Amino acid sequence: MKTLVDKLIENRTLTRDEFITLINSRNEEISEYIFENARRTSEKHFGKNVYIRGLIEFTNYCRNDCYYCGIRKSNANCERYRLSKEEILQCCKNGYDLGFRTFVLQGGEDGFFSDDDMCDIISQIRQAYPDCAITLSFGERSYDSYKRFFESGANRYLLRHETADAEHYKKLHPKGLDLENRKKCLYHLKEIGYQVGTGFMVGSPYQTVENLVDDLLFIKEFSPHMVGIGPFIPHGDTIFADEKPGSLELTLFLTGIIRLMLPNVLLPATTAVGTVDPLGREKSILAGANVLMPNLSPAGVRSKYLLYDGKICTGEEAAECRVCLQKRVESIGYKIVVDRGDYVPEV
Ligand code: SAM
Ligand code: FES
Repeated sequence: MKTLVDKLIENRTLTRDEFITLINSRNEEISEYIFENARRTSEKHFGKNVYIRGLIEFTNYCRNDCYYCGIRKSNANCERYRLSKEEILQCCKNGYDLGFRTFVLQGGEDGFFSDDDMCDIISQIRQAYPDCAITLSFGERSYDSYKRFFESGANRYLLRHETADAEHYKKLHPKGLDLENRKKCLYHLKEIGYQVGTGFMVGSPYQTVENLVDDLLFIKEFSPHMVGIGPFIPHGDTIFADEKPGSLELTLFLTGIIRLMLPNVLLPATTAVGTVDPLGREKSILAGANVLMPNLSPAGVRSKYLLYDGKICTGEEAAECRVCLQKRVESIGYKIVVDRGDYVPEV
């Protein structure tokens, strides 16, 4: 099995069958071999640096009804909120003072915020923080909308493809949402000039190993600047309430593989990983991740942005998470840096 990993390191990909074999026959020894190499690769590009992104969850209203998601429109138990422009700018100020140089505006697909509203918010952040990156993550919009946001000063966009198998996509989403449009959005974002992040959930209902391999192959083909993966975690108010969560072990294994496929990609140790295991984020960094995305949203709204049950850091203030993360990262021999942490192409 080590020869397959060596081949992956050399070619930065494997065939579909080889990936299936690697995942199906993984064991502790092979995982450790992948993690060692993933750490070495990450260190070559980023040293022991870990980049931080300040997440501002600015609305939990959503027009969509993704079966897995706690803020889906038909969840009547979700207490809805929106942050005002002033509140968003205040989050950025707190974040800047704490050393964040990337702000991520994430939310449901909320029609309340028109393109004009978003352009206004983005350009005000751009004006106030010319040295910071602005990342957007609020779902599918038209080419023209994405272009306007980019021209207003946004630099990056996160849009997970969720699953690269069209049939599996249909089992996770209601009619009206399809993989084709999701992918089209991703290609539009790249064409416009954004640094683009995609990704998927590990262990989502009905997912097979073949689906995961298709995710890896899609990621290879699309070649994103960032990849976000995390275990699926059920939310009690969704139709997947009784499904079992995705495994940390498989998530880490795939994290290592992605680092070896895309050596310089920005790869977060996600909140979902920290939710399924108290040391999940540390383990993820040791498997090749190099980014953390703590929350800058006001403490009063955090517990309302519940995509899944048990989400960590809903009671903490931004400053508390910053200190906590510093300690966690240092405990494994890495350091958090005050830096935009842009994608740097390989020379
Ligand atoms: N609305 C935007 C979008 O669709 O890209 C951004 C917000 S969306 C809630 C962010 C991500 O949360 C999704 O891409 C999905 O992968 C993840 N997510 C949602 N529900 C989840 C769950 N139950 N477990 C794990 N991750 C989940
Ligand atoms: Fe939020 Fe540890 S990162 S409390």
